[in-house]
Amino acid sequence: MATPTTHAFGIDIGGSGIKGAPVDLETGTFSGDRVRIPTPKKSTPEAVVDVIGELLEQFDEDPSIPVGLTFPAPIVDGGLPFVANLDQSWVGVDVAEVVHDRLGRKVVALNDADAAGIAEVQYGAAKGVPGVVLLTTLGTGIGSALLVDGTLVPNTELGHLEIDGHDAESRASSAVKDREDLSYKEWATKRLQKYYDTVEKLFSPDLIVVGGGVSKDHEKFLPLLKTRAPIIPAVLRNKAGIIGAAYRAGERAE
Ligand code: BGC
Repeated sequence: MATPTTHAFGIDIGGSGIKGAPVDLETGTFSGDRVRIPTPKKSTPEAVVDVIGELLEQFDEDPSIPVGLTFPAPIVDGGLPFVANLDQSWVGVDVAEVVHDRLGRKVVALNDADAAGIAEVQYGAAKGVPGVVLLTTLGTGIGSALLVDGTLVPNTELGHLEIDGHDAESRASSAVKDREDLSYKEWATKRLQKYYDTVEKLFSPDLIVVGGGVSKDHEKFLPLLKTRAPIIPAVLRNKAGIIGAAYRAGERAE
C-alpha cells in the first residue's frame, strides 16, 4: 500500500479572491499562512492560471506536492459546463490541461461547495454524521454539497433552484443581503426561510450545515430559521474550500 499523503496544497478560486494555503491532511489545518490575491477583473483561464502560478511561487513547496483547485461552478469530466460568477471563457476548458500547459503542474479540480462538504465531513461539522447531510455555502452565490453517509453526490447546484420564478441565489445569497442592504432578520425571514423550506421539501436532509464567510455571524440568522432538520454552522467556515481541495488532491495522489 502507498504511504498516505499527509501534505497537500489547496486553492479556492472565487469571484473576488483566489486563496491558497498548504494543508496538513492529518489534522485538516493550514500548515502555513493563507495567501489571497484578488481575482483578475477579467477572470479568463489565462489570467486566473497566472494568479495560481503567482500564489504557488510564494510558497517554498516541493513541486510534487498535490494541488487541488476549487471553482465556483460544477466540474464535470474535468471542465466547467457552465459558470455564473467567473468569466464565461472558462466554459468547456479542460482545467488540468490549461494549468499543466501554462505552469507545468498537475492539479485536480472540483466544485467549491463540494470541497467544503468534503472538508466538513473529514474534519468538521459533518464528521461521523450518518444519513443525508446538506451543506450550503452562502456567499456571492449559493453553493451546495449533498453527502450520504459521508459520500459526496457531486455537482448538486441547489443555488440555482428556481423558486417563485427566481434563481434562488439571486434572492438569498449573502451578496444579495449586502447589495439590498437587508438586516439579518429580513434576510433570514424573507429570503433564507423560503430557500431552506424548498430544499427540505425536495431532499429531506437529516442535517443542514451552513458555510460561507457569513457563517461567522451564524448566531444572528440561524436561530431565526425554522427547519425540521437541525441547521448548524460549518466549523471550518471559509477555510473549508482550501482544506477540501487539498484533501481531494491528496486522495488522488495516492
Ligand atoms: C455556482 C456553484 C457554486 C456556488 C458558490 C453558484 O453560482 O453555480 O457551482 O458552488 O455558486 O460559489
